[in-house]
Amino acid sequence: MKKLIAPSLLAADFAILGQEVEEVKNAGVDWIHVDVMDGHFVPNLSMGIPSVQALTKIDPPPMDIHLMIDNPEFFAEVFIKEAKPHVKLLTVQVEACTLLHNTIETIKSHGVMAGIALNPATPLNLLDQVLPIIDVVLIMCVEPGFAGQQFIESSVGKIKKLRKIIDSMDQDQKPLIEVDGGIKLNNIKKVADAGADILVSGSGIFATENYSDTVSEMRKLIGS
Ligand code: DX5
Ligand code: ZN
Repeated sequence: MKKLIAPSLLAADFAILGQEVEEVKNAGVDWIHVDVMDGHFVPNLSMGIPSVQALTKIDPPPMDIHLMIDNPEFFAEVFIKEAKPHVKLLTVQVEACTLLHNTIETIKSHGVMAGIALNPATPLNLLDQVLPIIDVVLIMCVEPGFAGQQFIESSVGKIKKLRKIIDSMDQDQKPLIEVDGGIKLNNIKKVADAGADILVSGSGIFATENYSDTVSEMRKLIGS
């Protein structure tokens, strides 16, 4: 499968968000990554329902919504309804979700891909029971909450380990691996080679001069 690039809007200029989305769309990105925070699960607030509603009006690339919030059991469906038909993937954090099985089923019942995110210190084996029924595992390579943080190097081993587990699964439809946090031109090849399928990059794209050049350079590095 072609590896996908998804810029994280958290690192974009919110004063001109529509223009920023237009620019990354013209740069040929596959999806846009929308970080939702609640000030409880993470010590920050970011985009919420009005921002998602606004994005749907500007014909965005497919949306990859990452919920870093408590009570994702309730909000997953709320965000899907607001972002329809533009939402491709909705991801909840495993640490915040007690009714994980139900939440996955709810997301998938809307024809949206279901993702589960793991913080850097969260072990892969928490996914044992749900791996066969999810579409994406999101490996956080920084603590969630802020754009522009330093990539945590031990994430590479975690991605490789997950790649092996997924490759050995005995089913046709296997989950994709998404990586998020601190990914830039200088390390994107390393995480792609470790086994990532979907590469999220915030400041790695939005803090550069020319988004098209950056995205093409990233594509060259990951061979996609
Ligand atoms: C962190 C968010 C990430 C972040 C990525 O809490 O989930 O999506 O915005 O930004 P960079 O690539 O700058 O780390
Ligand atoms: Zn994110």
